[in-house]
Amino acid sequence: MQLSVIGCGYLGAVHAASMASLGHTVVGIDVDEAKIAKLAAGEPPFHEPGLVDVLKDGLASGRLTFSTDYSDLADAEVHFIGVGTPQRSGAQGADMTYVNAATDAILEHAKPGSLIAGKSTVPVGTAARLTELAATKGVRLAWNPEFLREGFAIKDTVDPDRLVYGVTDATRDEDTATLDNVYATILDRGTPRLVTNQPTAELVKVAANSFLATKISFINAMAEISEVTGADVTQLADAIGHDERIGRKFLNAGVGFGGGCLPKDIRAFTARAEELGKGESVAFLKQVDEINLRRRQRVVDLVVDSFDGQVFGHRVTVLGLAFKPDSDDIRDSPALDVAVRLKGLGAEVVSYDPEAMDTARRAHPQLNYADSLETALDGSEAVVVVTEWKQFKALDPAETLAKVARPVIFDGRNILDPAAWRDAGWTYTGMGR
Ligand code: UDX
Repeated sequence: MQLSVIGCGYLGAVHAASMASLGHTVVGIDVDEAKIAKLAAGEPPFHEPGLVDVLKDGLASGRLTFSTDYSDLADAEVHFIGVGTPQRSGAQGADMTYVNAATDAILEHAKPGSLIAGKSTVPVGTAARLTELAATKGVRLAWNPEFLREGFAIKDTVDPDRLVYGVTDATRDEDTATLDNVYATILDRGTPRLVTNQPTAELVKVAANSFLATKISFINAMAEISEVTGADVTQLADAIGHDERIGRKFLNAGVGFGGGCLPKDIRAFTARAEELGKGESVAFLKQVDEINLRRRQRVVDLVVDSFDGQVFGHRVTVLGLAFKPDSDDIRDSPALDVAVRLKGLGAEVVSYDPEAMDTARRAHPQLNYADSLETALDGSEAVVVVTEWKQFKALDPAETLAKVARPVIFDGRNILDPAAWRDAGWTYTGMGR
């Protein structure tokens, strides 16, 4: 099929390349010329495992192209909207500027009878509004949320857990058939496909992310209780996780969640629920957010306490900047936040991350970035692990001890073996263990 993908950020670039890998002819469109030039040259503008290969294969096949010219979408049968819906400046709700602009631009060029498939995470009610607008041009609109995780974005796109089509009664059969054609390879594998109305499809995405955020904050709340009772939250998570109804995934306590989705989605959901007069239904999400943010300060407090309340002038190594491993994304990153907070208290912070140094340096030029893990550890008076990179998990306690000035380590992700580090002579502190 002929497809267009509007917005070539994380979601759009991955979607465009993945759809080409399924055999479709795809044009990815974005207003950012530098981004389009990179993608057209086969260079992903961000770190995502596997993307470079899918991108290069797509370009080489001739089925994948990138453009800044919206008129290039004119021949497409389906137009995916994959632009961002960031948190509005100074408010909790989602900024819909890009979704609205993308829809207008599509409608200027799309052929009648084509289908817009929205993938961006939007406030419930958006699809209904845009469907009316599209109908004036004879274009149909469905909502088709994505659930991709950074670090697994290609796999999550070409082999998702489920597909969700949010459609209107009027065009249900047509829209379903069109999307079934797009995803035929995926459906042939028996992937569950749910056809819902539009509000349900919009809510599926925010409900899923709210649930995940709640799960993480739940275990972090248990970490807070563990800290005052002497319990070990990691063992607690293992024990409750054996109950299949609970499950062990997303029960890792630490400095909490960040990234481009979870934090802004729970805030936008809260704002939308308040608009709908149902703020009380999701009032708990404010607590979820607060618990999450408290854990960042908790690590900072632990570090400061280890210097008897005065971290000023002490050399603190912060290992990790990305919001999670296998990503160079620092949006709302707890790791970066911890580094900034410690720096703000006058600590001599040295940061290191295997992939996120450039993105972090652009956003926070005032921080000190080491060019290697070894340099970061050199002469350190406190080591703080805040992103779960495998390089940090694999650190050898004895070898690391030889590099630092004071063997004190804070495991902000509970990824190290406390006994091994203590046996090697370290003062080890985890989160709630
Ligand atoms: C998330 C959703 O998982 C995905 O389905 C949606 O499409 C986009 O948002 P992503 O932002 O890539 O994906 O990150 P995810 O893997 O969910 O992790 C989010 C944050 O939670 C990270 O900062 C991670 O470190 C943290 N986390 C995750 C925990 O603190 N504990 C856990 O047990 C799991």
